[in-house]
Amino acid sequence: MLNTIDLDKIDVTSAPPQEEPGRQYYFMAKCRQYTKRFVAEHGRCPTAHVQNYGCQMNARDSEKLTGILESVGYEITDTEEADFVIYNTCTVRENANNKVWGRLGYLGAYKKKHPQMKIALCGCMMQEAEVLEKLKKSYRYVNLVFGTHNIYKFAELLCTALAQEGMVIDVWEDTDKIVEDLPMERKYAFKSGVNIMFGCNNFCSYCIVPYVRGRERSRRPQDILREIERLAADGVVEIMLLGQNVNSYGKNLEKPMTFARLLSEIEQIEGIRRIRFMTSHPKDLSDELIEVMGKSKKICNHLHLPLQSGSSRILKEMNRQYDKEQYLALVGKIRKAVPDIALTTDIIVGFPGETEEDFSETMDVVRQVGYESAFTFIYSKRTGTPAAAKQDQVPEEVVKDRFDRLLKEVQECAFRRAEALTGRTEEVLVEEVNSQDCSLVSGRMGNNFIVHFPGGKELIGTIVNVRLKECKGFYFYGELAE
Ligand code: SAH
Ligand code: SF4
Ligand code: F3S
Repeated sequence: MLNTIDLDKIDVTSAPPQEEPGRQYYFMAKCRQYTKRFVAEHGRCPTAHVQNYGCQMNARDSEKLTGILESVGYEITDTEEADFVIYNTCTVRENANNKVWGRLGYLGAYKKKHPQMKIALCGCMMQEAEVLEKLKKSYRYVNLVFGTHNIYKFAELLCTALAQEGMVIDVWEDTDKIVEDLPMERKYAFKSGVNIMFGCNNFCSYCIVPYVRGRERSRRPQDILREIERLAADGVVEIMLLGQNVNSYGKNLEKPMTFARLLSEIEQIEGIRRIRFMTSHPKDLSDELIEVMGKSKKICNHLHLPLQSGSSRILKEMNRQYDKEQYLALVGKIRKAVPDIALTTDIIVGFPGETEEDFSETMDVVRQVGYESAFTFIYSKRTGTPAAAKQDQVPEEVVKDRFDRLLKEVQECAFRRAEALTGRTEEVLVEEVNSQDCSLVSGRMGNNFIVHFPGGKELIGTIVNVRLKECKGFYFYGELAE
């Protein structure tokens, strides 16, 4: 672990070691020489900015990047006007992609005035061949480009990019490697994401993730448990286990293990008060998991269960491997075992060939389940996925109309679910001082709803009882119950 390693004691005049993570520590020590020289020349630390564009897994990767930058001597800043800027990109939908191109143009203009600055790009978008081509052709001012599989090599790549001019590119097709024990800087002191697996094997026909994140790989349970024990010792009370399909955790391990079993072991760790996880693919959600959730004192009463579509025909086209009836039966089983559970979901509107009848099946599931919240997405065509080759793309105005109707239904449903909680007293993990009214603090209940209530910053990171006084749709106003 980095805390126990003194980077200044590493001999950087000898050849770098071959094994990981020792090799990366060597390059961190080398980068530190660069930042020390920078301080001597400029009388200040070099600054770095890490911008995240993706999902929770990307956010966790950004914490790794930040951890490494901090440990080599960068001062982390909120602004892009920094000596080193890195964008951790996402490409799940076209608009995620567009945002990055837009910001990059902006950054290029800034770099013209500050030629010493370095720009780096990493993450899912970099795994796409056409993105690399575009960068090589029209964005020569970018200094470093790497992908999702070799993020553990960041220190080494940074070292190379600092030492030379021009563009350093290192993008791998896939990997079976998982490197443990690299430094990480957490955004919150009291809660943390924990990767339990990487990649995805499901190939839903609309989705680019399996192509940019590679095949599914589970971390060894002992590495996960050790990381969580350390987090607990460091004051973390809530963890979010992360994977594209946590329900298939452990299948490819030397000694296979189920996700439910992993949860039971995590439950034993002292200091951890709340356990969350995402994402659960309905096709792999086992009875064993439902049983563990029903019994657990620490697993939050919230399940994110992506539906994608309510039409069995479309679900088949999407390669989701469940149908409407199976999904609804699963929801029934979960509600029975965990009566208080909050259900949230992801839904795609306008998948190729979606008819009004298919869409009404989706609306029907939304009404039947009564989600506490739902992320609704307009289908986005991703190059290389099977759905992109389909001829019957749905016209934009039809999609927009369905999207609006779905959003309205989802919001009304969420409001009804939330309103029913008014008057109850709930355990709340206090996360921050309210950004609009500093006499209030904001926190999250186990079911993931947010509540604002009068309190001071000393409450941050603690779990308190709050009475829910007033429902505002997606959040509540409350008061301390003790
Ligand atoms: N692994 C998770 C989802 C990861 S992507 C799962 O299977 O549930 C997050 C969400 O983005 C997906 O659930 C899906 O609703 C949405 N999404 C993925 N690809 C998309 C596309 N091409 N167009 C629109 N939404 C998409
Ligand atoms: Fe994409 Fe499906 Fe994998 Fe989720 S399970 S990341 S939607 S391919
Ligand atoms: Fe985006 Fe990659 Fe996550 S494509 S949603 S950042 S896995």
